[in-house]
Amino acid sequence: MKFFSTLIGSFAALLFAGCERGTESSPPAVERDRTPSAEEIQHVQATGQAAAKVLMESLGGQLKGALQTGGPVKAIEICQQTAIPLTSSVGVNLDGVIVSRKTLKPRNPANSPDEMDRAVLEKMSKAVMTPGSPPQPMIEWQADVARFYHPLMIQEVCLNCHGDPTLFSPELNDALAKAYPQDQATGYALGDFRGVIRVDIERP
Ligand code: HEC
Repeated sequence: MKFFSTLIGSFAALLFAGCERGTESSPPAVERDRTPSAEEIQHVQATGQAAAKVLMESLGGQLKGALQTGGPVKAIEICQQTAIPLTSSVGVNLDGVIVSRKTLKPRNPANSPDEMDRAVLEKMSKAVMTPGSPPQPMIEWQADVARFYHPLMIQEVCLNCHGDPTLFSPELNDALAKAYPQDQATGYALGDFRGVIRVDIERP
């Protein structure tokens, strides 16, 4: 009896296997194994951190300076630039690395997330809700590109343009309304999760 049921079992398995093969029209593509090695993970982490650091330091420094000398309206253009030359002395080769910013509440619609970005942003937003667990950087692997995501939190200086709009000057509200009619990026408080710096790093 035992033998018999095993026999039926293998017969069914054979049948299904045959079925699967029958529906396949072309031979399976030979795919490279894209599982990252420990070495590649380390490379993407180091490169992503370095690029994010260059962008944050450069933006942060310029923002503070511009706010002091010209006020928020004049400083608007500082937060517009992400094309910062990524060649500063961080000791890591940043050739070919692409940096962008993504958020669930964009000021500029060009910074809207795609599906992969959105999943990361949602995970990080959830992490912020647990006290004492700030969101950590994440890596998502595509076949040809690794995306390193660095979380951005709202600091004091950010409130000038992303805080409570009733506290903004009329000039700033005007300038924002003109340049960004679909602005969603106000109403943040200190320590809020604002979005990410996304660093795209080509895979070997
Ligand atoms: C002087 C005003 C100003 C200040 C201060 C400022 N921002 Fe912005 N921010 C802007 C503007 C304007 C944009 C839209 C940029 C663009 O057109 O891409 C923007 C866009 C962004 C974006 C891209 C996503 C989006 O909404 O379009 C992020 C992320 C961001 N800001 C984070 C910050 C953080 C973090 C700080 C504080 C360290 C900060 N900003 C301070 C004006 C400002």
